Amino acid sequence: MSAEKTKTQRLRELKNYLVFLKDQGYRDIPLEKNIDKLNFDSEIINSQSDTLSLTPESAITSQNLSMELNAILKELGDCKRCKLCEGRTNIVFGSGNPNADLVFVGEGPGADEDEQGLPFVGKAGKKLTEIIEKGMGMNRERDTYICNIIKCRPPGNRNPEKDEISACKPFMQKQIHCIKPKVIVALGRPSASTLLGRPVTITKERGNWFNYEGVPLMLTYHPAYLLRAYTLENRRAVFEDMQKVLKVLGK
Ligand code: URA
Repeated sequence: MSAEKTKTQRLRELKNYLVFLKDQGYRDIPLEKNIDKLNFDSEIINSQSDTLSLTPESAITSQNLSMELNAILKELGDCKRCKLCEGRTNIVFGSGNPNADLVFVGEGPGADEDEQGLPFVGKAGKKLTEIIEKGMGMNRERDTYICNIIKCRPPGNRNPEKDEISACKPFMQKQIHCIKPKVIVALGRPSASTLLGRPVTITKERGNWFNYEGVPLMLTYHPAYLLRAYTLENRRAVFEDMQKVLKVLGK
C-alpha cells in the first residue's frame, strides 16, 4: 500500500468520524491553540479558528436529542448480542438529523456501510439519496434520519436472521422513540415485517399506510430492489409512495 493511499484513507476515516460526530449533534471540537494548521480541503473543517465547526446551525433541542441517541449508542457499546459481531468492521448505528420528521428504516448494512460505519452509503444509498433529494425535494442529512433494523453486516449480505433481528430491534425502537418522527418509511420486506411484527408481502402492501407505535408508517420498495428491477412501474410506485409521505408531512 502506497504512502499516498494511506494518507487518503486516513483523511477519509477522519472525515467519516467528523460526519459521525456531526450526526451525533456535536457542534465544535475545541483545538489546542498551537495546533498545526490543517491545510487539507474539507467543507466541514474550518482551519482558521480554534474550533472545528461541524454544525453551525444546530439547535439546543437537536443536541439534547443527540445526547439521547448517544446514550443509546453507548448502551449498544461493542455489541456482542448476536453472531454478526464476529464479521463486522463497524457498527452502523444511523445518521441524519436526530430531530427529523421523517425516518427511513432499511434492512442492514452492506459492505460499504460496514466499512464506513454509516448507513446507505453504497449504491442503494445513492439511490435512496436520489429519492429523498430529487424525488422528494428534501435534504438527506437535514430532513431525515436513516437507520436499519440490524446494525451489523450479515455475511455475504444475506437476509438478517430471526435471532439477529430480535437482538437488534430494541435499539431501532429506542432510536425511533427518541426521534419521534411524524412519518416512518420501511424500506423493503425485512424492515416492513420487523416494524409490523408480521410477515409482509411488500409487492402487495407497499403504498399503504400502517402504524408503528402511533407513528404513520409507509411501506415501499428497498432502493436495492429498485436498482435490481429498474422498471418504470417500480420507480413510479416508489415515487407515488413518497408523494403520500410528503402529503402527510405537509410538504
Ligand atoms: N441496505 C440497507 O438496508 N441498509 C443500508 O444501510 C445499506 C443498504
